[in-house]
Amino acid sequence: MAPKVYIETVGCQMNVLDSELVAGSLKRAGYQLAADLATADVVLLNTCSVRQHAEDKIYSTLGKLRRWKAKGSGRIVGVLGCMAQKDRELIRQRAPHVDVICGPGQLARVVELIEEARRSGTPQIAVSLGRAEASRAEVADSFESYDPLREPAMRPNRFQAYVRTQFGCDKFCTYCIVPSVRGPEQSRPPEHILAEVRQLADQGCKEVTLTGQTVNSYKYVAGDGRIWRLSDLLYAIHDLSGIVRIKFITNFPRDMTQDLLEAVRTLPKVCRYLHVPAQSGCNEVLRRMKRLYTVEFYREMLARCRDTIPGVAISSDFIVGFCGETEECFQRTCKLVAEAGFKNSYIFKYSPRPGTKAYDLFADDVPEEVKRRRNNDLLAIQNRVSLSEHRRWIGRTVEVLVEGQSKLAHKRGAIHGDRVQLTGRTMTDHIVVFEGPLSLTGDIVPVYIEDASSFTLFGRRLGPESENAHRGLESQAASEKRSAVAARVG
Ligand code: SAH
Ligand code: SF4
Ligand code: F3S
Repeated sequence: MAPKVYIETVGCQMNVLDSELVAGSLKRAGYQLAADLATADVVLLNTCSVRQHAEDKIYSTLGKLRRWKAKGSGRIVGVLGCMAQKDRELIRQRAPHVDVICGPGQLARVVELIEEARRSGTPQIAVSLGRAEASRAEVADSFESYDPLREPAMRPNRFQAYVRTQFGCDKFCTYCIVPSVRGPEQSRPPEHILAEVRQLADQGCKEVTLTGQTVNSYKYVAGDGRIWRLSDLLYAIHDLSGIVRIKFITNFPRDMTQDLLEAVRTLPKVCRYLHVPAQSGCNEVLRRMKRLYTVEFYREMLARCRDTIPGVAISSDFIVGFCGETEECFQRTCKLVAEAGFKNSYIFKYSPRPGTKAYDLFADDVPEEVKRRRNNDLLAIQNRVSLSEHRRWIGRTVEVLVEGQSKLAHKRGAIHGDRVQLTGRTMTDHIVVFEGPLSLTGDIVPVYIEDASSFTLFGRRLGPESENAHRGLESQAASEKRSAVAARVG
């Protein structure tokens, strides 16, 4: 019987993509996916090190997996991803029952490692070089590119997919472990990216999200000397038939160049949505974080995004309670959030990471309860801003790519015959919930927005005849963009 594998994933979009690729490689090697632990022979945890909390949860799961492993013979436990790269020794000490440890730069070997662990019963370990262990080029080489064939069945749905543009990060923000665990920033050759998107389109994929830790820093010098930027990639992908939506995450504020903003304005398939984390609204904190910009620069960048791309939605990340953050500093962050009009923000309490500059240089001097209070306060401000930002959509018609049944559907008992509560996203990344048949999943449909909360727009699906009657701003903007492209091409 084919061995069954169960993969649990935490962390960012990089890990989600890696898990899909690992599942695809295992499937081609004869494995099946297990729906749960009980029926699995191999359990893989794809891990994240960005905050202590994420690591604690993995150690607690590993504790449970010790009992799981003892209950059946030949069972295999694997730790993949960023924790594997960062803490192989610690994992061996704290969880000696782990059979496979494989860093994110070694995933091309994961099938071989699992097979070897099953055959020999001895632990298998593959990690890349640490950033200080060798020259930049050698370390970069040890983070091998992993881009096997895509397997639509391994994604939550076949019409949306992540596509990697870069590995690693070179920004070295002082709080962040990512440059250590993901290695040097390396942009993938554009022809690989385009071939992958073409393959995805052939498999029925409609929306691609280009991913990189700082996706807008993408830069590749081709053999003919041509320099490819993210904007060039957007134009090239835009020409591929079958793909109807293109997104990209995450952006670094300093690299938000005008060519990129103009590509977003011009290309109708590119979502008018930018995730550009600010991290703090205080220059003193930004300097200690080594973010390389000031609040004034960030605000000016936001204004440039909004001037260039009418109707663009912008989201952000913030860290509260970073080393030396005074109440005054925090109030500056509150002011930024109150004024910037973000669609949403992800807010995190600072978590000191051994191996980062901040851990070595600065005291983690903001008490936990102050971090918690600041987190709640900032969230409350963002929620108010999000609500008014969302309410502006009431009375407009938006185009929604339907992702499936909403999580609320069961809770609210809102199933009427073949109609369920569906959820999807707009071109500005807003979540929309509305009623309709499940068969709409994967389609783009016009929805008239009637209500809004801080997180969600609620609407009514329009039939083709009522579409014109309610033609709202989004449809207008899309058709303006279409004529802009026609003009450019012409
Ligand atoms: N590359 C992306 C995000 C990387 S990690 C970027 O540069 O924007 C995702 C988010 O986690 C970061 O934006 C930051 O807000 C948060 N984060 C990173 N390190 C952290 C730490 N040590 N403690 C708390 N939050 C952290
Ligand atoms: Fe971390 Fe900064 Fe790189 Fe983002 S840009 S991954 S926050 S070091
Ligand atoms: Fe976490 Fe690694 Fe992503 S540390 S945020 S999974 S790059």
